[in-house]
Amino acid sequence: MQGNNPQEKKKVIFSAIQPSGTITLGNYLGALKNWVAMQDEYDCIFALADLHAITVRQEPAALRRNTLEAYALLMACGIDVNKSIFYIQSHVAAHAQLAWVLECCTQFGELSRMTQFKDKSQKHADNINAGLFTYPTLMAADILLYQADLVPIGADQKQHLELTRTIAERFNGLYSPTLTVPDPYIPKTGARIMSLQDPARKMSKSDENVNAWIGLLDKPDDVVRKFKRAVTDSDARIVYNPESKTGVNNLITIYSAVTGTPVEEFVAQMEGKGYGELKSVVADAVVETLRPIQTRYAQLIGDKAYLAQCYNTAAEQAARIARRTLTKVMKKTGFVMP
Ligand code: TRP
Repeated sequence: MQGNNPQEKKKVIFSAIQPSGTITLGNYLGALKNWVAMQDEYDCIFALADLHAITVRQEPAALRRNTLEAYALLMACGIDVNKSIFYIQSHVAAHAQLAWVLECCTQFGELSRMTQFKDKSQKHADNINAGLFTYPTLMAADILLYQADLVPIGADQKQHLELTRTIAERFNGLYSPTLTVPDPYIPKTGARIMSLQDPARKMSKSDENVNAWIGLLDKPDDVVRKFKRAVTDSDARIVYNPESKTGVNNLITIYSAVTGTPVEEFVAQMEGKGYGELKSVVADAVVETLRPIQTRYAQLIGDKAYLAQCYNTAAEQAARIARRTLTKVMKKTGFVMP
């Protein structure tokens, strides 16, 4: 992975996504497409965060299926196991091991202030488990194990990355410089895709209204239908105005993101046309974007042996790097080493 010349050492990027069901067009355009694009410029390490997923109750068969499907789907999107390390978090034991040590360097008060913990404990009031509480420390362990320089994250994870930096600085201060303090990576492009039904909210697979989001494996007919039903406004003029025309904006943003056409250029093309046509143009562009991903996905998910070979190799690569960091941390903490 690294160049021979140490001066040319690429920066390390780490990111992870939870394998909890469908991956949406919002995830793809907001995050995954950037992951794919970063693979040449950086040493990328990507994980499926299955350890994080069990902080909310999972049906075992569904977790297993979702993890395999997400692995195949991310590969189909362009995560390339020959360029990047793409593994399943639970395959690398060092995550849980480092998380424990770091939990002892994290304050109860700090974890109590995490807004995602507060939100999720309201949503899952019947299962406010300790893992849900310490989840940000596990996330810190994910990142710090690989001495990542940069972490691409959405706004919802910013607070967790801040805490990761605090934990790394604290460990380095208590012992000696050991852990790289990571910076957030704000991609040059990266669209924020909103719900098709309520453009004030982010597109999310947890939305009960399936018309609000596009899944990467949605059939062409479903994509077309969902765009047909997309909320617009009563103005009927195609202009890009983030202030007032959120539904129309979102459609324009999606088109621009999938085709690479600048927003102004697309708006000019659509001048004088109606919302019906806008929706069908956008739907067609999305269908064409999803088509090759779905074809590749079908091949991959049909070849379980190949998938296993990919994630097993990646786990070995990841474990090798992770073990180096874990050993340093254990030694500095004062454990007698075996
Ligand atoms: N917590 C992230 C999410 O729910 C996923 C995640 C786990 C992650 N570990 C990470 C993201 C490390 C970035 C870096 O979206």
